Amino acid sequence: MIKKVSVNTIQKYKDTNERFSVLTAYDYSTAKYLDEAGIDIILIGDSLAMVALGYETTNQVGVEEMTIFTKAVAKGVKRAMVVTDMPFMSYNIELSSALTNVCNMLKNGANAVKIEGCNDHILNVIKRSVECGVPVMGHIGFTPQFLNTIGGYNIQGKSFDATLAILEQAKKLEEAGVFSIVLEMVPEESAQFITENLRVPTISCGAGRYCSAQVMVSDDMLGKFSEFKPKFARRYGDVKSLILECAKQYDYDVKHGAFPSDDEVFKLSEDELKQLNIHRGVKC
Ligand code: KIV
Repeated sequence: MIKKVSVNTIQKYKDTNERFSVLTAYDYSTAKYLDEAGIDIILIGDSLAMVALGYETTNQVGVEEMTIFTKAVAKGVKRAMVVTDMPFMSYNIELSSALTNVCNMLKNGANAVKIEGCNDHILNVIKRSVECGVPVMGHIGFTPQFLNTIGGYNIQGKSFDATLAILEQAKKLEEAGVFSIVLEMVPEESAQFITENLRVPTISCGAGRYCSAQVMVSDDMLGKFSEFKPKFARRYGDVKSLILECAKQYDYDVKHGAFPSDDEVFKLSEDELKQLNIHRGVKC
């Protein structure tokens, strides 16, 4: 029996100083392979807005869409913890709608949710979600859903004071009950200091080498999304080239009669073929 990664597994990693891995997935087969590869947490990130749906920002994706992708990913995963990003404005208006949306993700297969930000309302949503039985991953530093108020893709925690301010936020998240915290676009020295001062594990998204874990958008990791590559992403493959190569070969084969081959078609039995040929002959 495969042992599912739980909040206890994740805390144990932090307590024993063992690094763990997080990748995004948006569909059944990718999730299945990432799980088979041993990835500990599979995140249905709202990054899917850009890499899977072609939207301009992550703010354009809604609860219904996140739910569909959550269902698909959850079906493919046996071991990893499945975490769904709460999309823009799905938790920011009022507590009851936030809790309804959060619980909806668990009803559709997620094991936990991720929530960006750390204001009083968000802290309350996190606290109540955890009380309802929903594990929450926090997300501070650069928070893409707040891009317009932040004013751009700016590195956060660039000074000693700013680092202390992020640590203070992280402590509040910890107090509210998160089981882990994503630190996005933070200098690695700041992220290290924050990590050293927390009970829960930190997950680096462009926050350097000293967090408890690393997360990457799988389309960046696979080299599938080619419109831009963040400085902190590493391409481990070139899936874009593979898709282009295969599609071009397929196109050529179809247009030159090389696909399908004899092995790739269904055949009539000899008797049926005889009848068909007779019928053909009559018609001619
Ligand atoms: O949306 C996303 O994929 C994320 C991770 C990169 C942290 O939030």
